Amino acid sequence: MANILALLAASSAFLALASAGNVVCYFTSWTIYRPDNGKFTALDVDPTLCTHLLYAFVGLRDDGVVSVLDDWEITGLDEMNHLMSLREKNPDLKIILSMGGWNEGSYKYSTVAKSAALRATMVQSVLNFTDVWGFDGFDLDWEYPCQRGGADEDKVNFVTLLGELKSALNAKGKTLSAAVSGGIASCKLSYDIAKVAENLDMINVMAYDFHGAFEPFVGHYAPLYASHLDQTDEQKTLNVAAGIQYWLDEGAPPSKINLGLGTYGRGFALADPTNTSLYAGTYGGSDAGPYTREMGVIGYNEVCELYSDWDYFWDDEQQVPHIVKGNQWLGFDDPKSIQVKVEFANEKNLGGVMVWSLDTDDFRGICGKGPYPIMNAIKQTIK
Ligand SMILES: *[C@@H]1O[C@H](CO)[C@@H](O)[C@H](O)[C@H]1NC(C)=O
Ligand SMILES: *[C@@H]1O[C@H](CO)[C@@H](O)[C@H](O)[C@H]1NC(C)=O
Repeated sequence: MANILALLAASSAFLALASAGNVVCYFTSWTIYRPDNGKFTALDVDPTLCTHLLYAFVGLRDDGVVSVLDDWEITGLDEMNHLMSLREKNPDLKIILSMGGWNEGSYKYSTVAKSAALRATMVQSVLNFTDVWGFDGFDLDWEYPCQRGGADEDKVNFVTLLGELKSALNAKGKTLSAAVSGGIASCKLSYDIAKVAENLDMINVMAYDFHGAFEPFVGHYAPLYASHLDQTDEQKTLNVAAGIQYWLDEGAPPSKINLGLGTYGRGFALADPTNTSLYAGTYGGSDAGPYTREMGVIGYNEVCELYSDWDYFWDDEQQVPHIVKGNQWLGFDDPKSIQVKVEFANEKNLGGVMVWSLDTDDFRGICGKGPYPIMNAIKQTIK
């Protein structure tokens, strides 16, 4: 008997050690159209680096039905089946359907969430879509309730919608997650955090985009901690640690929270190239990169492949890097800052991390540290 108990104790200790945290990875379907080394397809995913793979994105129709945003990508390029085939290399991989994103806006979600009939249609459509394609769960990226065309009543309706989705999905053994804001002001507008947390299996906190070319001054898109140059109370909370602490303080269980990490960055054109300080004036976003092709945004793969000769700075307070050349200032995450952030998630006993997104890591291993240096830093650090 004592032996059996010892054996049980030993095996449960082993299980506790063996079950590392979540690594929830977004796969972005549109990156298949990027040029040259930037082109990223489902078959470029290394499914051993993630516990969950989220297909971004499907949309929502006004009548509550799931809509495929790029039909050719699924029917012509067969990407959905390529995605599902990744289970052959990692049978434990959970593949999850993600709906929404910034470009979907908020209005349709607000409309569907306030009508019992439209919510029922949406739940049925999500169940059908996930069954037909073989998804293990559903992820809702409504950006954001009560904002961007949403209404005040969204705060309550969002919880109702999540509750109905969760009951229906859990009954089929599927999970429900959501991407939520990591900005405290935005959270106050959008969420009843304790109730949101009750109605989700995983909470993916988007702990990034705190600063960017939407502001007329230099700021890092995802500092871990505040800088002494942050002056106002709001400025002091525009960082990863403060955002996560807010979710915890408002009652979200740490085990449900996945800390959102970026494999990208945001940059500026400096007004005065000699002033590269935080809060220095800017003339808009940095030049577009050749792969991500968007002003003010840059992928880590672009930074390491194309800008390795720029001046590199590490901010000891914020625990993140930036690079500068001429009037260009780019703040981003690299394997070093990602490791520090994962250690932070470990210390806070979070469920794990979420990563936006696989396509801007150095997935080809062009920069000399092997394929996926950021994802590997996560895998080696997460507990
Ligand atoms: C179920 O989903 C499939 C694939 O998207 C679609 O073709 C079919 O019309 C859906 N059926 C219902 C009843 O919604
Ligand atoms: C850089 O810009 C900041 C913000 O405007 C200002 O406070 C600081 O004095 C400037 N530094 C230099 C060296 O010009």
